[in-house]
Amino acid sequence: MFRTKWFILPTLALALVCQTINCWAKPQVAPKGASQTKTKAKAEATKNKGELTFASHCSSCHINGGNVVNPQKPVAESKYLSSFVTFKNYLKAPMGTMPHYENLIKNDKVLKDLYHYVQTLKKSEGS
Ligand code: HEC
Repeated sequence: MFRTKWFILPTLALALVCQTINCWAKPQVAPKGASQTKTKAKAEATKNKGELTFASHCSSCHINGGNVVNPQKPVAESKYLSSFVTFKNYLKAPMGTMPHYENLIKNDKVLKDLYHYVQTLKKSEGS
């Protein structure tokens, strides 16, 4: 009787503590949908950053991905967007009257965001 009591009580106490801190719970696995939403949100943020850079640096001449200075040379679907390196090299040594963007070229992160954004531009009819 004495022994049984000293066995049961600590066991009950342990069980109670375990219940409180939830140590039997299975590790929470995030539902698939949640992580996908995150990735999508990140892609959106990247696009917005690139869009902002484009708006502040490029859209004066390349509004909507076109080219107001030389309509034959729109950014949208330009062959210089075929790869990030090609794009970067073009901005390093732009042709004609297009300005040279020293600050942008130094920052690969900003440039990559910009690159991803310009890739989304579509040539519109007539531009
Ligand atoms: C002052 C006006 C101006 C600004 C600002 C400008 N560009 Fe340009 N861009 C031009 C002109 C003009 C051309 C055509 C150059 C030529 O004669 O080949 C051009 C051409 C390009 C081309 C190549 C198009 C092709 O297929 O020949 C790309 C890509 C481009 N610009 C990207 C950009 C980006 C990105 C920015 C912002 C960081 C920018 N431009 C800012 C005037 C500008």
